[in-house]
This record gives sequence, C-alpha cells and structure tokens, in this order.
Amino acid sequence: MRSAPFTLLLSAFLCAAGCSDSGDGDGGETTGTGGATGGTTSGGTTSGTPSGATTGSGETSASSGATTGSGDPTSASNGATSGSGGGATTGSGAGGDGAGGSDGTGGGASARVPAASASTLREAGEKANPPLLIGAAISGGGLGNNDYKRVAAAEHNYVTAENEMKWDALEPSAGNFSWGSADNIVNWARQNNMKVKGHTLVWHSQLPGWMSSMTGKANVEAAMRRHITQVMGHFKDRLDHWDVVNEAVQTDSDTGVGNPRMRPTVFYNQIGESYIDLAFQIAREQDPKAKLYYNDYSIDARNDKVEFVYNMVKGMVDRGVPIDGVGFQMHIGPPNNEAGGADVAANMKRFTDLGLEVLISEMDINRCGGVVTAEEQLTYYHDIVAACFKEPKCTAVTFWGINDGRSWLNGWSGALCNGQSSQSLLFNDQYGKKETYNRVMNALLGK
Ligand code: G3I
Repeated sequence: MRSAPFTLLLSAFLCAAGCSDSGDGDGGETTGTGGATGGTTSGGTTSGTPSGATTGSGETSASSGATTGSGDPTSASNGATSGSGGGATTGSGAGGDGAGGSDGTGGGASARVPAASASTLREAGEKANPPLLIGAAISGGGLGNNDYKRVAAAEHNYVTAENEMKWDALEPSAGNFSWGSADNIVNWARQNNMKVKGHTLVWHSQLPGWMSSMTGKANVEAAMRRHITQVMGHFKDRLDHWDVVNEAVQTDSDTGVGNPRMRPTVFYNQIGESYIDLAFQIAREQDPKAKLYYNDYSIDARNDKVEFVYNMVKGMVDRGVPIDGVGFQMHIGPPNNEAGGADVAANMKRFTDLGLEVLISEMDINRCGGVVTAEEQLTYYHDIVAACFKEPKCTAVTFWGINDGRSWLNGWSGALCNGQSSQSLLFNDQYGKKETYNRVMNALLGK
C-alpha cells in the first residue's frame, strides 16, 4: 500500500513524463494499442482530438422490460428533494422495483439485506433488498466477441458505454450527431434487460477540437445546451441515468492530493463554475425523472480532492441544483488513489447525508508496478464492494470492463503496465472467474 507522499511523488513523476491513453483492445483478447495523443493528467483525462464518427449498423430491435426480479434500485422515485422511500429492513426476497432507501432521501433503510444465494453477480444484486445494480463498462469492440457478450450479460444488469457516448463519438462536428455505435450498445443492453447510464454529457476529455477551442460564453453555453438536449432527446425513451458532468475538479496529483481546484476546461474557462449548475439544469429540463450524477476519480476516500468536490456538491444541493447523486469512480492503484473499505464507507456517508445517492461507477484495481499487492487487491475488492452493499443509498457498482486483457489501464503510461495486463478486473482473458470475482460475490452476499 502506498503512503500519500510516495503516491504524490510517483504520480507527479509519471505525469511529468506524460500520461497516455490506452486503446480498446478492439476485437482481441490482448492489450489494446491505442496511441497517446497528447498530454493528460488523469485516469481518463486527455483533451481529445476528434475521432471519426462511426456509423453503426447491427442491432436495431430492442426489447425492453425488466425480467422478474431485475429491479432497478433507483427507479422508485426521482430527485434529491422528494420521496420518502420504503425502507428495507428485513427479508431477502426478489428484487422487485427497488422501492425504498435509494431515492435520494431514503426512508429508514438501515442496511441492505443480501440474497440467501446467487449464481451470478447480477442475481446477487437483483435479489438483495433493496436491489443493487451491477454494472460494467461495455465497448463496441467487446460486443464483437461472443464470450465477452455472454459474460457481460450474465453477470451484469447495468451498462456504461466505455467510449461510445462521449462527445467526440456523438457530435464529431458541430451540430452533426452520430448515433450508431452508441445505439448498438444501448440496444444490446436492452435486449439483455440491462439498464444503461449515459456517460458522459459534459467532460473536457474526448471532446472534439471544434468544441475544446471554442471561445465566448454565449457560444459555449449554446453548444453545451445543444449537446445535452440532442443527446438526452435521442435516448430519452431508453435511458434515465446520466453522468451529467465528469471530472470537473483536479489536483496536482492524480491521486487527489495537492491544490484542489476547478479544472480549466473550455466550459469553466468560458462560462465559469456555474457551467456545472447549468448543465444539470438543462439535463433536468430534458428529463424531469432522470437520475443526474456528478462523476469523478480519486474521490473515493478523504483527500484534498474529495473535500473540494464535497463542498462543490453541497453548494449545488443548497442552491437546489437538480443533482441526484455522486459517482465514485473507484479506479484503485496507479495512476489514481487507493482507498480501504472503511474509508470508502465513511466518505460515502458524508454524501448520503446530503440526501444524495452514491455509486461506485468505474471500479478496477490495478496490479501493475506492484503498487497494489495481490492480497491487497482481494481485500480492496471485497471491502469496497461491501461498503457500497451495506449502504442502501449506494445504488450501483460498475466495473470498468469485463476481462483484464481489454482494460484501459494496460496501455496507459501512468498505470505502469507498459502493455502488460493490469490484472485489474474480475475475469481473465479466457473469461474465467478470478479470485477477485469470488471476493466481490462474497461482499454481495453479505459474507
Ligand atoms: O477510437 C480511436 C481510434 O480511432 C484510434 O485509432 C485509436 C488510436 O489512438 O484511438 C481510439 O480512441 C481511443 C479510445 O479509448 C477508444 O479505444 C483513445 O485513443 C483512448 O484515449 C481512449 O481511452 C479511453 C479513455 O477513457 C479516454 O479518456 C478508455 O478507453 C476509457 O476506458 C477511459 O474511460 C475513462 C472514463 O470515461 C472516465 N473516467 C476515467 C476512465 C479511465 O480513463
């Protein structure tokens, strides 16, 4: 386990050397080969050049409807201001509609009750009371592999598109939208009775050049409004969970240490901090019932960054900005922070005490560089998932990928992998369950 000073030094050194992006490992079981295309400072923060718009084909039909017991723990009500929740206190029955304890205000749920048994993570989440969504980042490339699809659908009921719903993918040139790749993922998810969280409406990374270079407050506001309106409008009947603003805060180190401040994005530079309120307000206008989240990395346990984010989010709640919850990305290990289960639980509680939901939104635990040992990784997986499981207002755990070989970490220089496997996820490259899977399952069963 790293000490904070070591972490700070390590991260500063790495990012001085230039952090780079990893590719998707598209179509293969091996490490991705995405190129580094510019400086970056975080687990996921490159000011992107526009990638080509992809036009999708493939699946167009979608069946909706949840299967029995595939309850959405966040569907009971909406908003941080209303609803009383039912309160799960006893029993371990089927998932149902997720009533109680997850609506932003809670209603007496003192603990989540685990299923008596489950053969998949998804089942464990669905049978818990209240239910817990079990998510995965899904890539378009991954869906070209039958084993990937099989494991993804069997073990999860919640999808985040790894890249396909980002600004550069959806609006590669001003006002021209490209839906194909995102539609493929959303339609596949719905065919498998999985919910989808839109990721992400406003983010500085993977932002097309025409947008990141825009000047003028009115211009940027108008472009942001158009993007949010068009994207939420396109998916309106299929998605009601959104990462509205992503990674708006930075520190000197990607571990969340040192000089926390607003990230100087085109949105912040041209509009000021109020762009965050505005983005949430526009999103709420588009969908009065959607769950609207703020999402960030290295805010998983107390540090400089999460103090700043806490104050920012508290200000939003106090001003009546329509925010429903906060996603703790939970990228553990280089280039991001480490966090133990007890610290994660205490940190989550501060946010739920504001009347908000919390989510683990992008979990992986990087073994590269030996910074996190094998034993520490297992302990972290169990204890962090257990922290969420025990908190009824923690409504989802999403893993950032399915199998190790496709992890974004493998080719990300700050992650210390140098093309080797980060060994960061729950399945190996033959899609076999790892011990990390067993530890997560134990946590979901209350063991
Ligand atoms: O699509 C292009 C392709 O056309 C090009 O040939 C290839 C070579 O450079 O790059 C491809 O784009 C890559 C893209 O992934 C799709 O594979 C980008 O270079 C690469 O930078 C991008 O990395 C993604 C990263 O976000 C970018 O910031 C990772 O896959 C993705 O896992 C990661 O996800 C982020 C979350 O959205 C936010 N939180 C942090 C998290 C991890 O960084």
